[in-house]
Amino acid sequence: MTINKVCVIGSGTMGSGIAQVSAQAGYETTMVDVKQEFVDRGVKMIQTSLGKFVERGKIGQEDMDRALARLRTSTDITDAARDADYAIEAVFERAAVKTPIFEQLDRSCPGGAIIASNTSGIPISLLAAATRRPEKVIGTHFMNPVPVMKGVEIVKSLLTSEETLRVSVDFVQSLGKETVVVKDSPGFVTNRIVTLVMNEAARLLEEGLATIEDIDKIEKLSHNWPMGPFELADLVGIDVIVDLLEGIYQQTGWERYKPAPLLNRMVEIGYTGRKAGKGFYELFGQK
Ligand SMILES: NC(=O)c1ccc[n+]([C@@H]2O[C@H](COP(=O)([O-])OP(=O)(O)OC[C@H]3O[C@@H](n4cnc5c(N)ncnc54)[C@H](O)[C@@H]3O)[C@@H](O)[C@H]2O)c1
Repeated sequence: MTINKVCVIGSGTMGSGIAQVSAQAGYETTMVDVKQEFVDRGVKMIQTSLGKFVERGKIGQEDMDRALARLRTSTDITDAARDADYAIEAVFERAAVKTPIFEQLDRSCPGGAIIASNTSGIPISLLAAATRRPEKVIGTHFMNPVPVMKGVEIVKSLLTSEETLRVSVDFVQSLGKETVVVKDSPGFVTNRIVTLVMNEAARLLEEGLATIEDIDKIEKLSHNWPMGPFELADLVGIDVIVDLLEGIYQQTGWERYKPAPLLNRMVEIGYTGRKAGKGFYELFGQK
């Protein structure tokens, strides 16, 4: 199977990043969202990101121009998916939002097309069940920021075919990424581990073991991490972490994934991290 045309549903943080790397890799790429202003915002994010790569000498101006020329936008999934060889869904992390999109993509994409989800933890089997081609449904879990981060988890459901897996691994690698194949299990590998680290860090803070500066400092110095758990939590968004923990907890019942009370409190008072302009460091950092 040859992939020429890629359709990305959702033009937010992840969708715009995926559309960018797809267009950069030479695929005719269409990015879809529900409103024109959202796709316009996505295109702006792509322009800014490509502009930074040009400034730093990582790509030439002509590479940026070629990538942008391969990018189309749409507010109509049916139309955008009509001739797609590979569709990637990157909308809100809610099964109720994703499932109808899978139904629609199944109706609109050519019969041979693969439909992937960038979900952080919704079962791929559940999304596959909304289609008449479950063997062609797979997870491609890109990391944020997509144009920078190398790793992608490829999530194989019980029904994903070997052919879909092979084509997907080749496709994602053609975007300059490295892949790891994982089973369709809550949180996959990355979020099973990183959420626990952040949950435990919040508990350490609750117990008063050390300051947040010192917890971050010792983790960076001891394990060579580029960021400490609180710096990462503020970057990712504390609400996102709570949703991820809650999602794994609800699906498995494993107590260790129950969000630490402090994480819930942070969300309740609106201290969700960098995007809100206030997070762990504003509340607990040394003034
Ligand atoms: N942000 C991260 O760090 C990260 C990392 C890995 C995976 N993910 C996953 O990627 C997915 C997208 O996350 P995000 O951070 O980009 O979210 P986001 O909120 O930035 O973007 C979601 C976009 O989807 C659009 N959308 C919603 N319903 C739609 C519909 N019916 N049709 C078309 N577009 C629609 C929204 O308008 C929005 O622009 C989620 O499943 C998330 O769990 C996020």
